[in-house]
Formats: sequence, C-alpha cells, structure tokens
Amino acid sequence: MTFYQIWVRSFKDGNGDGIGDLYGVYEKLDYIKSLGIDGIWLCPVYPSPNADYGYDISDYKNIHPDFGDLAQFRKVLDRVHELGMKLIMDLVVNHTSDEHPWFLESRKGKDNPYSDYYIWRDKPNNWDSLFEGKAWEYDEVRGQYYLHIFSKKQPDLNMDNPKVREEVKSIMRFWLDMGVDGFREDVINFISKKEGLPDGLPFIPAVNGMFAYKDGPHIHEYLAEFREVCNEYDCIQIGEGPMTTVKTALMYMTGKTKSLDMMFSFDHMMADCLYTEYIQRPFSLRKLKRAFSKWQYALNGRAWNTLYLENHDHPRIINRYGSVYFRRESGTMLAAAYIFQQGTVFIYQGQEIGMTNIRLRDIDDYMDISSKTNFSKYHINDPLDERMKRIYKSSRDSSRTPMQWSGLRYAGFSTARPWFKVNPNYHEVNVAAEENDPDSILNFYRKCVWLKKHCKTLVYGSYREFYPKSHRIYMYERVYNDSRWLIICSFSRLPAEVKLPPEYEGRARRLVLCNYRGSDPYDMHLRPYEARVYKFR
Ligand code: GLC
Ligand code: CA
Repeated sequence: MTFYQIWVRSFKDGNGDGIGDLYGVYEKLDYIKSLGIDGIWLCPVYPSPNADYGYDISDYKNIHPDFGDLAQFRKVLDRVHELGMKLIMDLVVNHTSDEHPWFLESRKGKDNPYSDYYIWRDKPNNWDSLFEGKAWEYDEVRGQYYLHIFSKKQPDLNMDNPKVREEVKSIMRFWLDMGVDGFREDVINFISKKEGLPDGLPFIPAVNGMFAYKDGPHIHEYLAEFREVCNEYDCIQIGEGPMTTVKTALMYMTGKTKSLDMMFSFDHMMADCLYTEYIQRPFSLRKLKRAFSKWQYALNGRAWNTLYLENHDHPRIINRYGSVYFRRESGTMLAAAYIFQQGTVFIYQGQEIGMTNIRLRDIDDYMDISSKTNFSKYHINDPLDERMKRIYKSSRDSSRTPMQWSGLRYAGFSTARPWFKVNPNYHEVNVAAEENDPDSILNFYRKCVWLKKHCKTLVYGSYREFYPKSHRIYMYERVYNDSRWLIICSFSRLPAEVKLPPEYEGRARRLVLCNYRGSDPYDMHLRPYEARVYKFR
C-alpha cells in the first residue's frame, strides 16, 4: 500500500482565498490517484487557532472554516472511496489548544467537571518543552501551572483521567461513523506520563523530560482501550513515535494488545542531525543505512515498517540527503532507496516532484513556531547569516510552502496571494512541467509505486543489505521464493564503480528501472546519484 500525505493548508486552494482547503483536495483527488496511491493521510483539518498549524485543536468534531465544513469533508471522503482509496485522519490527543472549551473550563478552578482534564501542579518540575521554553506555564486564573510538552498554547491532556479517554474514544467514533478508515496518532507514545512527573536529567536540554513522558506506565492499557474502538470498525492505527526504538516499537506493534498496526520511527531522519534538524551534522550515508537496515531486520516477520523520507515536520529530503544541483538525479534515486524496502510507503505532498527548501531572508518570514524558537536558541554572537543558514536547512516551513502545480502565478496553488511564500523555483519545479517530461521525478515516482504494487517480492520479500560500510553506495536485495531483486543507489555526486555481491556476479539480469537513460545493465559504473533496480534470474 502507498499513502499520500496532505498538509491541507498548502496543498490546493479551491475557493480563491489563498489558503489550501478541502475544495482543493477534492479537485486534486484524481491527480493523487494517478500516482498509484491507495490511501491518504490528512493532516489535522479541525478548528484550530494555528499556534502549531492544526496540531492545536479547539474542536475535534468539526472542520476548520478555512478548510470548508463537514459537508465538504464528506464529499471528499466519498470521492476518495469511489476512487478506491482509503482516508486516515490525524488524531492529536496528547494535547489540545488552550482555546479548547475543556481547557477554558479547566483553568477556571479545581472543582468543575473539566478540572482534571489537564495536568496541573502547584510547583513545576525541571522539564523543558519541545517548542517553547519551560514545559510549565503559570495560569493566573487557576493559580497553578499546567504542563505543555509543546507550545504554551498546547496544554497536555491528563490521559490518566478516564473521562479524557472516553472523550478520545468518542472523537474516534465520530470520524469512524462517518466512514474514515483509521488514524495517524500524533506523538502517541507521550500520552501516559510517569507518576509524580519526576525531574529529567538536567544536562539534556529540550528533551530532558522525555524519559518521563515517553512510553509511560499506562500507555499500553490506554491504547488497548482505543484499539477496542477500532476493532468495532476494522480500521488502521499508525502511531507517530518520536524517539521510539526498535524494542519499544515492537511492544506497540506485537504482543497481546497489538495496540498499533504501524509506527513512524525517526532513526533514519537523523543521518544529518542530532535528534532534531536544528542540531546539524554533516550527512552520513552510513548512519542512514544503519538506521534503514536496523528497522528492516528487526521488524521482518514480526511487524510492518512505515517507509517515509518527508512529512510536514522535516525539511525537504533533496536538500538533506541528495543534492539540489542534481535535483532530478538525487530526487529519483532517493525514491528508489526507500520505496523498495519492506513496509508501507508514505509520500508527502511535493516530494513526488522534488520540491526543495525555501530560503527566506528574515526569521520573521518563517511561520512555524519551532523554527522561531530554534532561531532564538542559536548563540546570539554567531553571525546572523550563519544562524539563518541553519534555519534554512532545518525549518519545518520548507515542507509547508504551497504545492507547486504549474508555472502560472502563485504556482497554480491559488488565484489569490497565498498565505505563505511560494518557493521561487516553481517555474521549473511544478507538476505540469513534470507531467510532460517522461524522465521527471514525478514520473519516476509513478513507476516506483506501480512496481511496488505489482511485485510480490518488493512487498513481502526478505531484505538484506550489502556493503554497509560504503560511503557512496546503498545496495539491498529483496528475495521471495525464486524471485530476486537488487536495488543499487549511488549517493555520490561523482561517478562510482560498483561491485556486485559474489552470488550475483555473472548472472542474467534485467534492469527494470533506472533514473538514467541508456545504462548498460552489465556495466557497473554508476553516474552521479544513479539508481538501478534489477531483477535477477
Ligand atoms: C507531531 C506533529 C507535529 C506537531 C507535534 C505536536 O510531531 O507531527 O507537526 O507539531 O506533534 O502536536
Ligand atoms: Ca481556500
């Protein structure tokens, strides 16, 4: 199965106000289908003050007026199903918006029905938030501090309160009754906090609370409750698991509760950074391969991987693991590098046309809260352009610029000035141009998705990596019964010679897919960022 992820605000504006919406999504469903997509993950479309662009929800059972209304949502959902695709929603229940009615009530005092919906304390512990200063904010009205792992406008829900869990289940039912096919569950491994909220290790700033709010003591009980709801509807649950390890992920995906069907892990997103993109390191292919293979080997036969390189939380992958100078070559190579592994593929809007990072001049031009606070964390004495360069490399905003549909004004995203800057490279990088070019990144993605769908070996086959120590080449096989595929990807901007593993040498082969024309299947000299997908006999 292959999913397409939509961050609605920047996907397509259907009513001419400069903001992407569900009218635009509806218009583009045929395009999504044309990629060979089986399912859509819709980022949050609920009413939200947008402190964290939809991840701060003020009403879980409605649609943000910017995006349309429930009737338009139903229209989208019906059409998705007509086209034979599935639709999953974003379920964000670690926190709400501080403008959610529950929070407005909760802050009023200690003795109303919502008092215990959030995590209130007289004294804060030492935790930092991931987005904005300390993890505790004093509330004048209530006279206590509330916990917020993310921004101040995202107070954490108290999942230990059974009433809160009932609310979550009621939200799930609301959307499942309407016909959605499942959920992507936001930071789901954070929802059960350790009793007493002990101090974290003081010398790891920003994530010092992590061990108390990750994989908490009741997490599996709570998820089992949610699972029961899903079982009534036969739907899928995919959990986002920041900092999740193979071991903890397997606890969610296997065993008695089997509370999650799949998880989004992050190891492979750290081949050029430490935990978060704002602490940068040079890209290391060996790190990337180690992360890929670790998950491939560990989950094989036990659980199922998610495969992704981009989403709304990360800068564009070509800037990170490829090269903007070899945009087409590295964009296509990266597709082959991840799509043919074992797992369910996710493609993020714009990734399929090789969109790249936007470079904005001023920090005030950035919209994303974490980019702004990251900027303020860089040392004030570092030169300004150095700090801006790091933001350019790390900002989540690069994946949130308007989708580039054509070379027309505003990239065909809208008829009005879009809510956020369009990447000026839209004249070359856009869907219309790539549709017409048989060698485009877009058409390469289509071929990859098609192959993955039609070849059992690429779905179920075992995975084995060769030459893990190579700094230039990522090579892996997929084997199923007698069928053998070998995927060879060069991460080098220079030509590279490849040696086949001994068991493959001299064997008859078919070069099924390649991102260059005219490559001789028997000549193992690879051009910059060349990717080859072989079927062996
Ligand atoms: C997840 C979302 C991210 C959001 C955060 C807080 O990581 O993907 O966009 O900011 O959770 O909800
Ligand atoms: Ca609009």
